[in-house]
Amino acid sequence: MAGQHPAAAHSGPAAPFWQVDRPGQGSRTLGRRDLACLRETRGMPRAVVASSGRCDHARPFARHSPRQPLLRKSVKTPQGLQALIDDGVIDEVLRPLKSGKEATVYMVRSGDVVRCAKVYKDMAQRSFQQRVQYQEGRKVRGSREARAIGRASKYGRKQQEAAWKNTEVDALYQLRAAGVRVPEPYSYVHGVLVMEMVTDADGHAAPRLGEVELTAEQAREYHRVLLRQVVRMLCCGLIHGDLSAYNVLVGPDGPVVIDFPQVVSASGNNAARRLLLRDVNNLTASLGRWAPDLLDTWYGEEMWALFEAGALQAETELTGNFEPDETAVDLDSVRQAINDAREEALIRQQGREAAAEADA
Ligand SMILES: Nc1ncnc2c1ncn2[C@@H]1O[C@H](COP(=O)(O)OP(=O)(O)O)[C@@H](O)[C@H]1O
Ligand SMILES: [Mg+2]
Repeated sequence: MAGQHPAAAHSGPAAPFWQVDRPGQGSRTLGRRDLACLRETRGMPRAVVASSGRCDHARPFARHSPRQPLLRKSVKTPQGLQALIDDGVIDEVLRPLKSGKEATVYMVRSGDVVRCAKVYKDMAQRSFQQRVQYQEGRKVRGSREARAIGRASKYGRKQQEAAWKNTEVDALYQLRAAGVRVPEPYSYVHGVLVMEMVTDADGHAAPRLGEVELTAEQAREYHRVLLRQVVRMLCCGLIHGDLSAYNVLVGPDGPVVIDFPQVVSASGNNAARRLLLRDVNNLTASLGRWAPDLLDTWYGEEMWALFEAGALQAETELTGNFEPDETAVDLDSVRQAINDAREEALIRQQGREAAAEADA
């Protein structure tokens, strides 16, 4: 069905999220032992409950609202999240949600609410080739920091690491304030970002845009909404820099953009135009699978021309048409660059699909 989570397509209503990784275990009502455990844990300090594993035998029962979980088996607290439990920022780690190339995202509980905690991988583990390009034009807090980053000293590496992590949380606050649909950040402590978990209509972690089937009409609507987010970001002086169908989650109210550590400055970065066009073309190529008419649009070029002329505003209506100035631009090379970006997006998508299949 259009827009449906693929997991839900096979066997009627999908299992609640806490059951997803427990195949073969049916739901059950709480037994005496569970209730005793619940009474016992209520009087305990949070950290003890979370780290003692005392509730391990208890499983949640299916009817319970995902937003108010009472009992659930929590995973062994990963390194990096214990400090947040000790500080009372989160109460418990429910399960890992996704380990990506840059970070591992966990589903965590804070009081009655399920949230996401993003734990960034160490620099050495990250496979980011063009960090220099991304960081060009990005503001670093003080000149000592800037010099240290430049020198790649031990202190410099630490600063660079911190700048990388801070960038995402700073961008989320800034973009939320500008009305861009991004997850709401709650805290950033001990280098871990705790934010709203984007869910689908049933409260499961939301699927990514590249994982859902859409009607042509939905694809056009998502494209319109997403390009509006890109325009609003550009009006904040920011370009996502890694926008693709895999960094967009599909919530019940439409698409939500995630994953901002590589966000780039639109005015201070020489590659800004190219990155913006790549972002827009990635979205267009993905959604163009469902609505091929989108493939013949020029929104990125139109946006950039308006931005450069100082004429782009958050709600500026775009047409998708663009007349390149043929005296100044080699049209063939522009078209070639766009085709390359579209091809690259397809190749990346196929690679991700192959990796996901290999994981399954
Ligand atoms: N706020 C969120 N709500 C729900 N799922 C999320 C959220 N943030 C991240 N995820 C999940 O975790 C995955 C990895 O997060 P992301 O921020 O894209 O990091 P990476 O740099 O590892 O790609 C996402 O593809 C998504 O499935
Ligand atoms: Mg990502």
